[in-house]
Amino acid sequence: MSLNQVIYHRTKLAQALVSDLAGEGLLDYRSGLFLAAPRRTGKSTFLRNDLMPACEAQGWLAVYVDLWSNKQLNPQDLIRAAVAKALQPFDSRVRQLAKKVGIGKVTLLDSLSWDLSQPNLPDDATLSQALGLLSHLSKKLIVLIVDEAQHALETPEGLNTMFALKAARDALTQGGQDAIRLVFTGSSRDKLGSLVLKNKSPFYGASITPFPLLGIDFVKFVTKRWNGRLAESNQLLLEDVAYAFELVGHRPEMLAKLIAQVSLELGEAEQLGRLLRTRAITHQQGIWEEYESLFNSLTPLQKAVLLNLVQQAYNNEAFNPFSELSLASIEQNLLSFDAKASVTVSAPSVQKALEALRSKDVIWRANRGEYALEDQGMSEWLLNVRFSGVWEQG
Ligand SMILES: Nc1ncnc2c1ncn2[C@@H]1O[C@H](COP(=O)(O)OP(=O)(O)OP(=O)(O)O)[C@@H](O)[C@H]1O
Ligand SMILES: [Mg+2]
Repeated sequence: MSLNQVIYHRTKLAQALVSDLAGEGLLDYRSGLFLAAPRRTGKSTFLRNDLMPACEAQGWLAVYVDLWSNKQLNPQDLIRAAVAKALQPFDSRVRQLAKKVGIGKVTLLDSLSWDLSQPNLPDDATLSQALGLLSHLSKKLIVLIVDEAQHALETPEGLNTMFALKAARDALTQGGQDAIRLVFTGSSRDKLGSLVLKNKSPFYGASITPFPLLGIDFVKFVTKRWNGRLAESNQLLLEDVAYAFELVGHRPEMLAKLIAQVSLELGEAEQLGRLLRTRAITHQQGIWEEYESLFNSLTPLQKAVLLNLVQQAYNNEAFNPFSELSLASIEQNLLSFDAKASVTVSAPSVQKALEALRSKDVIWRANRGEYALEDQGMSEWLLNVRFSGVWEQG
């Protein structure tokens, strides 16, 4: 019995983002909206079911592309295919136009000419040209939504695509034009940070906005639906469901799984709630134990480097492992793990530690050498559980 399939709509959130994108809010997202939230918390569901319809209701043209939808295809091809698909409905209009002016090939905007019925853009077309043409034909503001955008940072082609998108945005917003908005989402704030933090990043200067997690309204919605299926003598209490939802990191799927498990077991109402809480605690502890044993398996230097990375991300700074400041702080961390450490903290030894962390899948490396934790949950565990209160002291 799964109630996970029914979507809880987040209309207000979609409306708020639409008005921010329109420039009506306090925040200016004309350079790009970067939304980050942990895995499985409902980003894609929201983009497709709430944000896109809200954009369309506003008279905008929303184009969605998920960079993880097909891992065989590179980000560039996926984005170009999404734009080509958005152009397809305009094929017949362009053909009519071509007939009227009596030319065999349609030439619009500079020297651009191609057959819009194709699922792909011609090789020589730039994203700027394609998005410019889409804007020209649709006469609508284009909202290009790139889901799992950090994926583009892993290869040179992907990174080039991000620069191409930036160029397209600049081209479509110059000279009083206001024709495009870019929305990027990712499951890691730190990974998305590689798009905006360094002055060589494609969207340097933009900031990462935390994507609001599902909250108490969603818990109410879920509780009501489950109670409709449970015996009257065995109903769920809102506070128990809210507690469990918190512990599963606001993940709808995981909550549904826990409720399904406990509701299959017989018991009184009070026991059902208690059982749900116990299961949620067990779930959380299981994850924490995995982090703990992974962390314990690292050498003192690897731990010290990892902590430096987490500290810098926490301070919203680009991780610069070989700077003098970082090397000093890594050394300080190292001594706190191993007071008699004999390893010298130097660029080569830190490089080696980074490589080891990467081969253990603890950290992720972008094409340009930026690093981030592979699992954002581990960063939260390090900050809030394992070393809770340590950072604030300095
Ligand atoms: N608003 C919602 N109402 C009901 N279920 C939801 C909602 N949002 C997400 N879910 C469920 O949670 C699960 C994860 O959702 P989704 O794939 O949208 O998350 P995500 O953050 O994009 O995950 P990923 O990190 O894997 O890309 C799905 O099973 C989805 O059905
Ligand atoms: Mg997703």
